[in-house]
Amino acid sequence: MALLQSRRLLAAPRLAAAAAASARASSWWSHVEMGPPDPILGVTEAFKRDTNSKKMNLGVGAYRDDNGKPYVLNCVRKAEAQIASKKMDKEYLPIAGLADFTRASAELALGENSEAFKSGRYVTVQGISGTGSLRIGANFLQRFFKSSRDVYLPKPSWGNHTPIFRDAGLQLQSYRYYDPKTCSLDFSGAMDDISKIPEKSIILLHACAHNPTGVDPRQEQWKELAAVVKKRNLLVYFDMAYQGFASGDINRDAWAVRHFIEQGINIVLAQSYAKNMGLYGERVGAFTVICSDAEEAKRVESQLKILIRPMYSNPPINGARIASLILNSPDLRKEWLVEVKSMADRIISMRTQLVSNLKKEGSSHNWQHITDQIGMFCFTGLKPEQVERLTKEFSIYMTKDGRISVAGVTSGNVGYLAHAIHQVTK
Ligand SMILES: Cc1ncc(COP(=O)(O)O)c(C=O)c1O
Repeated sequence: MALLQSRRLLAAPRLAAAAAASARASSWWSHVEMGPPDPILGVTEAFKRDTNSKKMNLGVGAYRDDNGKPYVLNCVRKAEAQIASKKMDKEYLPIAGLADFTRASAELALGENSEAFKSGRYVTVQGISGTGSLRIGANFLQRFFKSSRDVYLPKPSWGNHTPIFRDAGLQLQSYRYYDPKTCSLDFSGAMDDISKIPEKSIILLHACAHNPTGVDPRQEQWKELAAVVKKRNLLVYFDMAYQGFASGDINRDAWAVRHFIEQGINIVLAQSYAKNMGLYGERVGAFTVICSDAEEAKRVESQLKILIRPMYSNPPINGARIASLILNSPDLRKEWLVEVKSMADRIISMRTQLVSNLKKEGSSHNWQHITDQIGMFCFTGLKPEQVERLTKEFSIYMTKDGRISVAGVTSGNVGYLAHAIHQVTK
């Protein structure tokens, strides 16, 4: 009896293992391979595990205040309080989103005096922040832009651009943009490549604060880019994820978008309110098509709605209410403009402090690109092995391409960062 029982006990785990194996073999998903982790989230995971009190996470693309803490804008807190006090309902939004928000969003991008805005020859739909708005646009192009499947991205571009367009069924191509030798814009390379793009292809341009390089064309260079784009008859897709956040001035940051439209180039545009209003998790964005007249805009709008309806039916309401209140109430808007400028100014001042600390450390390299570049990110020019040393020896985390989020630098840690960079580059 005792022998029988112990045999049964021994057999039990074997049976369980066999059952698990047969369940695996018959699974629908046995062929699904483990995918690689997201490179930026991987950096954050490694950072969290590090116990060094001086550790710095320069990988994440979110603003931090001078104490290294996430920052909620005062205008956002006030808008939230107003919304809460009104005890509003939570009904579905229309498919195209909150109308007060989409109108104000178009006005913010195009400018209140814009002919395209005033004449109504545009359509703006609410999107799920910048990413979702870009994706609506990509799907729209896949369905209705008949002359080409090719989207030309700057080299390099934001890592998510490729899968956004690829998953929408478009093909990715590239044009020269960044010159690693000078850590600045390869303007002649860009002009040369763009002038050879087949006519009626799609080109993606970062409106300001290019991610990941922080390198933007100057206004004279934008003018030349607009001219060549017009000559090649390219469809321009502007990604504007940082309006106001780059220079601190919403009009200056939208200059390229407005200039292209003034040149008669009917662009498409994705906007995000993640950075400039700090509404990261609220997922507020917009997608706009500039059309030849208001009647065309109506037709395009009808098709955008048909596209959105089976994707997520209609967009989330809360963030759009916040952004709409801020854009449409004179007091809140005024406060926002001051706050967005203060975020931009803090980043600009961290760039200056980083360079002056590097000089103090005795670095003889030319670090001017750090202050020439703009926006949240800085392409330091550090090599992968130098990045590895920064992480191993100094607990400073960033992506392997040497990109740092300047938003993660504070007056408290800029000296440590400069010291560490000097140690790995001298
Ligand atoms: C160039 C660019 N486009 C779009 C986005 C979209 O971000 P989100 O979907 O959070 O608005 C980002 C965010 O990092 C970005 O850098």
